[in-house]
This record gives sequence, C-alpha cells and structure tokens, in this order.
Amino acid sequence: MLELAGKIEDASQVISSHYSERPRIGLILGTGLSGLSEQIEQQAVLRYEQIPHFPRSTVESHTGQLVCGKLSGQNVLAMEGRFHYYEGYSLQEVTFPVRVMKQLGCEILIVTNAAGGMNPQYRLADLMIIEDHINLLPENPLRGVNDDRLGPRFPDMSAPYDAELIDVARSNALSLEIPAQTGVFVAVPGPNLETRAEYRMLRGFGADVVGMSTVPEVIVAQHAGLRVLGFSVVTDLCLPDALEPVELSKILEVAAIGGERLSRLIPKVVETI
Ligand code: HPA
Repeated sequence: MLELAGKIEDASQVISSHYSERPRIGLILGTGLSGLSEQIEQQAVLRYEQIPHFPRSTVESHTGQLVCGKLSGQNVLAMEGRFHYYEGYSLQEVTFPVRVMKQLGCEILIVTNAAGGMNPQYRLADLMIIEDHINLLPENPLRGVNDDRLGPRFPDMSAPYDAELIDVARSNALSLEIPAQTGVFVAVPGPNLETRAEYRMLRGFGADVVGMSTVPEVIVAQHAGLRVLGFSVVTDLCLPDALEPVELSKILEVAAIGGERLSRLIPKVVETI
C-alpha cells in the first residue's frame, strides 16, 4: 500500500493537471451548504471519482465534486460534499482532501456544517462561528506512525480556530446583519441523532452545537499548519426538555437558509483575508 504522502502526491498531480493556479483557501461545504460554490468563478470542476485515492460521497444531499476557481479575487478549492465517519470511512480517508489542499498550496481552511443547536439562545438557521471544539469520535485521524513531513507527532490544540479569522467573520456578519453566534462545536459519530439524555450531557460538557463532521478535518488542518475558520448552521433545536422529532427534509430546508447566509458572508470574509 502506498504511504499517505504518496497518495497525497498522486491526487495533487491530477488536480494540478486540470487547474494550474496555486489555491490559497480550501473550503469544505457541509450538508445542504453547497450553494456557495455558485459564487465561485469556476476554472475546473473534478468529480471525486476522477481524483486518485479520494473517497466517494455516499450521502444523497452531498454532490461530491471539487470546484477550483476564484472567489472574491482569491484562488480557492471548494469541496461540494464531504466525507463522514458514519459512512464507514476511516478518519484518514475523511481528512485526505485536507492533506491534498495543503499540498497544493492552501494556507487557510474554511469549513462549514449543519449542526444541532443546544444553546437555548440559538435560533434555527443562525450561523455559529466555531471558537473551539470537543472531539467525541472514537478514532483520531493522526493515530498511527507520524510522518514528520506532514506535521508534528503531538500537534498543539490550544487554538485550532484562528482568532484573527474569527474576528473577521464576526465583523463581516455584523455589517451584513447576518445573525451569527460564536461557540463550541462537539463532534459525535452519528448517524443517529442524539437522545434527550445525550443532548443534556453534551450541553453539560460545554458545547453549543453538535454535529457529525468537521473535527477530523480541523485536527488534520492543525497538524498540517493551516489556519482554520469554521461555521455551523443551526438546523434543528436540541433542547432536551422540549425535543421534537427531526426529519432530514426539515434540516435541509433550514440549511438552505443558513447556506444563503454563508453564501453572502464567506465571499466578504475571503475578500478581507
Ligand atoms: N445532532 C447531530 N448532528 C446533527 C444534528 C444533531 O442534532 N443536526 C444536524 N446535524
């Protein structure tokens, strides 16, 4: 089996053969949040099957392609659709695209996701700028022999979300009058949603929203030395004493509102950074 560095090189070469610019910003667009890619002046679009060693998205609401082009004058790579632990992938597979983004030249990673809101002050379709996270996945993308060329054995996690990028996101949200909270994301394995007892526990841990993604990519981004900005869209309210059953269709409906907000906010942020 090829070692990870060789696979990263393979994938990067194929992308470079379709897109010759050096990207500065990588974007991972979460469930129902791919609308932003319409704002990109697209120079190349690669389906995940075209890229060696890329996993394929198994979730219907994720399209599964890499869009390369210009957003607000900057070169970006945007993933329409990401990979999740619950789909059966290892976390090394889930985070492989982040390695490739780094190899191609990215310095900044912007991640988005749909999440359940546990902070009682949060409203449906609010954005939350991720300030910190809690990892409750039963695996870690960095487990195994460390390749020192890719990053340190024990990466620091004192500030995985870049304070300056958080400030830029907050001030732009304010000037666009987009409701944006700042808080803590907790990652759970899924695919089932949580019980009331679990929401109570997760809230007690100090998390504001809960979702099934993002943390593995952010761990690898931190390992690789990328600056990270993360956004959650609150797609359902997870108040344990007033919990209603959720349906995927409702989550996607609310994600569309949040996605429209992100489609206005992220280009402004990218213009500034
Ligand atoms: N829990 C976990 N993941 C989610 C949720 C939730 O309530 N909503 C959207 N993604």
